[in-house]
Amino acid sequence: MINKIYFLFFSCIAIVFVACKENKSSDLTTDSTDKTMVDHHSYSNPGEAVIKHLFLALTADFEKKTLSGTADYTIEVSKGADSIIFDTRNLNIQSITVDGKDSPFTLGSKDELLGQALSVPVNQNSKQIVIRYSTGPGADALQWLNPSQTAGKKLPYLFTQGEAILTRTWIPIQDSPGIKLTYDAMITVPKELMAVMSASNAVAKTNDGIYHFKMVQPISPYLIALAIGDLEFKSTGPRTGVYSEPAMVGKAANELADVEKMVVAAEALYGPYLWDRYDVIILPPSFPFGGMENPRLTFATPTIIAGDKSLVALVAHELAHSWSGNLVTNATWNDFWLNEGFTVYFESRIMEAVYGKSYSDMLVNLGYQSLKKTVVELDPKDTHLYQALDGRNPDDGVGDIAYEKGAHFLIMLEHAAGREKFDAFLKKYFSEHKFQSMTTTRFLTYLDENLIKPNQLEVNVDEWVYGPGLPANIPIVTPERFAKVDVKLKEFLGGAPAKSLDSKEWSTHEWLHFITALPDSLSTAQMKDLDATYNFTHSGNGEIQDAWYKLAIYQGYGREILPSIRTFLIEVGRRKFLTPLYKAFVENGMTKEAKEIFEEAKANYHSVSYNTINDILVKAE
Ligand code: BES
Ligand code: ZN
Repeated sequence: MINKIYFLFFSCIAIVFVACKENKSSDLTTDSTDKTMVDHHSYSNPGEAVIKHLFLALTADFEKKTLSGTADYTIEVSKGADSIIFDTRNLNIQSITVDGKDSPFTLGSKDELLGQALSVPVNQNSKQIVIRYSTGPGADALQWLNPSQTAGKKLPYLFTQGEAILTRTWIPIQDSPGIKLTYDAMITVPKELMAVMSASNAVAKTNDGIYHFKMVQPISPYLIALAIGDLEFKSTGPRTGVYSEPAMVGKAANELADVEKMVVAAEALYGPYLWDRYDVIILPPSFPFGGMENPRLTFATPTIIAGDKSLVALVAHELAHSWSGNLVTNATWNDFWLNEGFTVYFESRIMEAVYGKSYSDMLVNLGYQSLKKTVVELDPKDTHLYQALDGRNPDDGVGDIAYEKGAHFLIMLEHAAGREKFDAFLKKYFSEHKFQSMTTTRFLTYLDENLIKPNQLEVNVDEWVYGPGLPANIPIVTPERFAKVDVKLKEFLGGAPAKSLDSKEWSTHEWLHFITALPDSLSTAQMKDLDATYNFTHSGNGEIQDAWYKLAIYQGYGREILPSIRTFLIEVGRRKFLTPLYKAFVENGMTKEAKEIFEEAKANYHSVSYNTINDILVKAE
């Protein structure tokens, strides 16, 4: 209770301070707005002392599985402040200097989620801190892969995943999205490997295994990223290209041939691309996400390399984050919908520009169908766009609410204002807030002043942002291409054979619509007919395999194709694919099988996926 009162008191001061500051200056890049942001997922005190720049000098030791070296920070300390606080989790801090002199430091008590506060005494004149440290075995951001887990099978690999609060497990940092810093790095790796980061990158291996990086635009700590492996680069256009293992790079470049067009389309919508180059690295299959928008270098799963460009919307999504997320960043994880809802909307606009509306409508509708299912499963208080995640893992906020309800909120606004006005509004929003962090309340004020009031719109903003479920005015996009699928679906359910679907023109998305609409009550003969005709079990397209396997487990055909499901779950570590399948096992009396597969697969899962699946299986006991 007392804590709460203190919190309210300080929040009020913070809000007053933010309001004053906003009137004074429009340049909020390096300002005190962010310093006063209350982020309950960080111990840092940016209002008092804040990192402006980081120089990271690390060596990767693949035998010990550690990164070690120094982090050298340029800091700014406010008058009266006597310490700077960093976030750390499972790091070995060896020594610290402040302006060249050895300094004492204290590590706070351990919290399983947030880690430990690292406090270093400073004063107003302090400029530079150097921390010598190494990562420990509990560095959850890192996944160290054995050669057998790579495409080449000969050399090891390492990649990092910082979002949401994992950067503190490999760098002592003020790990809040409300903070922005520039960085340089020097990374030393075994000579046969190459290092790349979310920064300027080399296009070929060096002779000495030393790589230098520069990120000159300020970014939030969750966007600092590193990958080390047997990498090769292939250009796909003047500003775009792809990194991957030699065995994959040709295929990857073909699949991503349209990325340059996507950058052009995105700029035409919402203003210049401000990060210079846009490259993608295709990682090994254990990468726990589809994609991660690390600036200048999107990290992506190899499961998007389907052979027919059918899954490249994921790249449009990560590219869109170059505006929504990386340029204008959610100030705290409670504001996550500002990152993801905007990005899903922007993704569909890029896809529309490059592949046409009949295509992007399918993507939007698949999102809506998924959202409808999710909403009924969730506790209503978890269905608000603004999420009160204090005391919870920010991971709890990842899902259809932030992504799809968020995107549909923006579609609703687009329809209310008209596309031209809405686009002008978004373009101005990105331009006026570039390199800043944004809270939900600040965004809503901006929305009111720049779109709603000037156009006298009547829109139920509060219901969307602070209310549960799906508002009655949710826009429903109905793709013509799905209407055709629905006709065939009806015939099939009425007893027509699988070969009569007339599906020659169907893309992956028509198939996904078809498979997800099939009821669990389908007969096994019908499942077998579909599989014999279209070979979903061995489709090679991860999205189709995932949807099909899920249906199969619920319907009862899962045991028959269990070896294929098992192979998929062992090879692929993408959480979005794993979660529905493990849940399906648990809900259909196959917990024993699920546990056996997990035992075999878990060495291939990054901590993000491991923790989610482990929770599902522990709860099933
Ligand atoms: N930023 C997210 C991934 C993320 C979210 C990592 C929260 C950690 C915490 C990324 O942009 C994303 O949304 N990826 C999706 C792709 C998609 C919706 C097209 C994914 O990985 O599936
Ligand atoms: Zn995203």
